[in-house]
Amino acid sequence: MIKKIVMATNNANKLREVREILSPLGIEIISQKEAGTDVDPEENGVTFEENAFIKAKAVHDIIGGTVIADDSGLCVDALDGRPSVYSARYAPNDMKCKKLLDEMKDIPENERTAYFECCIALVTSNEEPKFMTGRCYGKIGTEERGTNGFGYDPVFMYGEKTLAEMSPEEKNKVSHRAKALEKLYDYLKKRNGE
Ligand code: IMP
Repeated sequence: MIKKIVMATNNANKLREVREILSPLGIEIISQKEAGTDVDPEENGVTFEENAFIKAKAVHDIIGGTVIADDSGLCVDALDGRPSVYSARYAPNDMKCKKLLDEMKDIPENERTAYFECCIALVTSNEEPKFMTGRCYGKIGTEERGTNGFGYDPVFMYGEKTLAEMSPEEKNKVSHRAKALEKLYDYLKKRNGE
């Protein structure tokens, strides 16, 4: 029975989201800092799975127990899936959308498909690691719209709106992170019920 999970992050928003979604299961979620480590390993994997695993394993190696970590990014079909695991490093935060629009200025509307992916790795002492992946499919628009969210949200069209034009509640229903977390919820519920 899993009663406590350490999340390998110090990002307060991610922690809050995970706590909200997993709270019905009665599992306590604590940050790696609260658990006593501020390890920050190099994310040198080439997939979201590898990077999520690197983060969760680094914390597990120090404090043991059950640890989760997530890794996410944007994959654009016309750019052969880039920026993918390099999404955070693609450009400084206030330049990410501008650089992407610039790089895609000659790509026609019907070839602008893209998706966000989030992978959550769950590392425990006695079992193989588990991976839960969620995706959010959409298109890259031709201008920045909206002020909510972060990163590439102002240029990522989900239907007629960008993610930055959606309220946090609306985005949390369709986001890649929410979908991966729903899978984690289902897995933990089943596991704790057995
Ligand atoms: P990380 O998983 O926190 O390392 O995020 C990687 C990068 O992907 C972030 O810096 C963002 O640029 C981008 N990203 C991940 N999720 C989202 C999202 O929901 N909206 C916009 N950008 C995102």
